[in-house]
Amino acid sequence: MACNFQSVFLPQGKLSRFGSIVSMKVNLPLKAQPENDTQTMAPTMPSVTSKETLSSGGVMCPPMITTKSLTWRLLEAEERKVGSTGKFGKYGGRFVPETLITCLDKLEAEFNLVMHDAEFQEELAIALRDYVGRETPLYFAQRLTNHYKNSNGKGPEIYLKREDLNHGGAHKINNAIAQAMLAKRMGRKSIVAATGAGQHGVATAAACAKLSLECTIFMGSLDMERQSSNVLLMNLLGAQVKFVDGNFKDATSEAIRNWVGNLETSYYLAGTAVGPHPSPTMVREFQSIIGKETRKQAMEKWGGKPDVLVACVGSGSNALGLFHEFLRDEDVRLIGVEAGGSGVDSGRHSATLARGEVGVYHGAMSYLLQDDEGQIVGAHSIGVGLEYPGVSPELSFLKDIGRAEFYTVTDQEAIDAYRRLCRLEGIFPALEASHALAFLEKLCPTLPHGTKVVVNCSGRGDKDARTVFNYELY
Ligand SMILES: Cc1ncc(COP(=O)(O)O)c(C=O)c1O
Repeated sequence: MACNFQSVFLPQGKLSRFGSIVSMKVNLPLKAQPENDTQTMAPTMPSVTSKETLSSGGVMCPPMITTKSLTWRLLEAEERKVGSTGKFGKYGGRFVPETLITCLDKLEAEFNLVMHDAEFQEELAIALRDYVGRETPLYFAQRLTNHYKNSNGKGPEIYLKREDLNHGGAHKINNAIAQAMLAKRMGRKSIVAATGAGQHGVATAAACAKLSLECTIFMGSLDMERQSSNVLLMNLLGAQVKFVDGNFKDATSEAIRNWVGNLETSYYLAGTAVGPHPSPTMVREFQSIIGKETRKQAMEKWGGKPDVLVACVGSGSNALGLFHEFLRDEDVRLIGVEAGGSGVDSGRHSATLARGEVGVYHGAMSYLLQDDEGQIVGAHSIGVGLEYPGVSPELSFLKDIGRAEFYTVTDQEAIDAYRRLCRLEGIFPALEASHALAFLEKLCPTLPHGTKVVVNCSGRGDKDARTVFNYELY
């Protein structure tokens, strides 16, 4: 049943070698180049050469943004463009057959409507509060903080944004409930989605049950074994779970293929910030509540902003959900942590931003894991939800302009972080979120005393307990 999806979303794979095309100026509209800055800025631009400097997993320097106004203006220029084109720099867009354009246009129009529709927003706010359980706490992790103190008792303060406490156990429901409401408003009767770790599948199945929509979830056969508890839940929630020979990327291809066959009645509910425009923007917007709440809660707790935000990166939805609110606060460091799997040199990883090259897949341009011929290569992570060979176009852009930093941690480091949080805080994080937590080991010793670090605990780890418990046995 596995399918290579080139027949629906063309083209796939490599467009060019990256090193030579990173210059921000290349992709900017002229108006984004400040008149007086062009000369003087060039040497100070975050020249993001940075497979080595930003993504190697070992270097702790913040990005080299020395000229605040330029980065701010770059972001602003991109934001203005994205409304109409879905492009983040050169990333994103719509690489789809003509036949899908009308459908995506309709979706974009409806999305733009609901973003300004008071009734929809009110309904969504109530669902997020009473059904999802928001707002989620910003939890001060006292014992984890103590763990990172140096011999003089100094160190950063660690806070966890508790997305694991959402209904369904992950951030995925923020987006799933909003898109299901949108689909219903568009008159769609059935929802189709793909899931890897099963968290998006559970969230979508729950939203569909609540809104009385038919639900079909595609999932890779290996993932169904690895995340079997979520398969049970999806079934109990009334979804039809269809197995696909392969993993999350194959399930995604199959779900899109199914949707394309039923465009008038069915709705493809994207679980992360990838795919053709407007998906990346829409998912980001519906997840941005994470960062908005964080800003408010930080102000209430210590009267300021966080200094550093850390999130795992599978395809980008929880990272962007946390980061987006703070993009223009250049004194806030944004750190994405990818899955280094068995090590980024092992060929068994999901470090798309660290090791990928630019190409087109599933309808949009981004960094991708691909071979020398531009064929997509399989991704690996112990955190099933991180296993995707592509990544959000917006994160690809943020990497290029140096606004966000990206690092990797290995499977073993994620397992250790899972166990550490269990023992120190009595919290079992999803293995995906454990990647963000694992990075604290490298980050914390480099931070000044009192630095406020917020880690997105994107999901709960019951689904991974057996994997973690038995890890040495592998
Ligand atoms: C708990 C959790 N965190 C993170 C992810 C990664 O997805 P994203 O990068 O879109 O947040 C997943 C994906 O399934 C997940 O279940």
